[in-house]
Amino acid sequence: MRVDGIPYRTIWLAQDGWSVEIIDQTRLPHRFEIVRLTTLAEAAHAIKAMLVRGAPLIGATAAYGICLAARADASDSALAEAAKALVATRPTAINLQWAVDDMLGRLSPLPPGERLATAYRRAAEIADDDVATCRGIGTHGARLIEAAHQRSGKTVNVLTHCNAGWLATVDWGTALAPVYTAHDAGVPIHVWVDETRPRNQGASLTAWELGRHGVPHTVIADNAGGLLMQKGEVDLCIVGTDRTTRTGDVCNKIGTYLKALAAHDNAVPFYVALPHSTIDWTLEAGADIPIEMRSAEEVTHMTGATAEGGLATIRVTPEGSAASNPAFDVTPARLVTGLITERGVCKASRDGLLSLYPERAP
Ligand code: MRU
Repeated sequence: MRVDGIPYRTIWLAQDGWSVEIIDQTRLPHRFEIVRLTTLAEAAHAIKAMLVRGAPLIGATAAYGICLAARADASDSALAEAAKALVATRPTAINLQWAVDDMLGRLSPLPPGERLATAYRRAAEIADDDVATCRGIGTHGARLIEAAHQRSGKTVNVLTHCNAGWLATVDWGTALAPVYTAHDAGVPIHVWVDETRPRNQGASLTAWELGRHGVPHTVIADNAGGLLMQKGEVDLCIVGTDRTTRTGDVCNKIGTYLKALAAHDNAVPFYVALPHSTIDWTLEAGADIPIEMRSAEEVTHMTGATAEGGLATIRVTPEGSAASNPAFDVTPARLVTGLITERGVCKASRDGLLSLYPERAP
């Protein structure tokens, strides 16, 4: 996608041909800063501290993290240590484990001296595959938006939670790819953007990227979605996911489940957009997905721009109040209208997923 007319991905190889550059998402929307990663430790820190975030992007960053590790030491033991360090950064998004397993699966059979070039080649393929996959999600999901427009003849109001746009992937996004595709095709669309406390990925990132692309949108407090649905002001919800089980249970940013409940109660279609790399074929039940617990400080404090143009962090809770910060929740498959994948739209169920990915049948 473009930023001030310049096409960007969220991760790319630097001009030196080996170090990796990313957009520091902790500084958006107030600053657009590029950070260079040169070591495994820097890649792991970028994922843990959420300079990069969003399930597909942390997968791609982990793939490049393996490349940076292999530059220093491509032995079996060093790569195993690197994989462990990367996977430990964020436990919920399965894309991280998927990318690391994929990299190690291709490097392990090779002699250590031949691993580096293969690692860089495969990391680039993972990034390119993510772009193509997200474009496919955009094509399939845009049909749902176009159909809603044809039914009503009016602007289509989409509600989304967190950031599942191009910033969360290598390009295009998952939940927002259908929005961009429909908007670019001339379908009138407006997006309700959940602010997504505590880290405000909606208010900070989704609003920023929709604005840069010229998509009409309105930021709302997380608690406003239910009222808007009751008033008929939401035509469909589209969210992303960090891990979806083989039975269609959907783990996504905390608060997604409440939106799904409100959508169900108001007969608003609730879609989840995801690439193949987000499906955990080993898990049956959403309850078995590990939920990342993050720092209480993300709840007790907020960061934003001051009137003078600086950045400031302030406390919003009384000193001494305890705070807890589970970062994800699970929406049961029965509350999900459909899954939008690069291969098409299916029911959130084992049969639905197997209809699109028959090669996964046991
Ligand atoms: O904690 P984050 O910002 O990494 O969480 C991101 C989300 O929950 C997204 O919805 C999810 O990763 C899907 S991204 C295409």
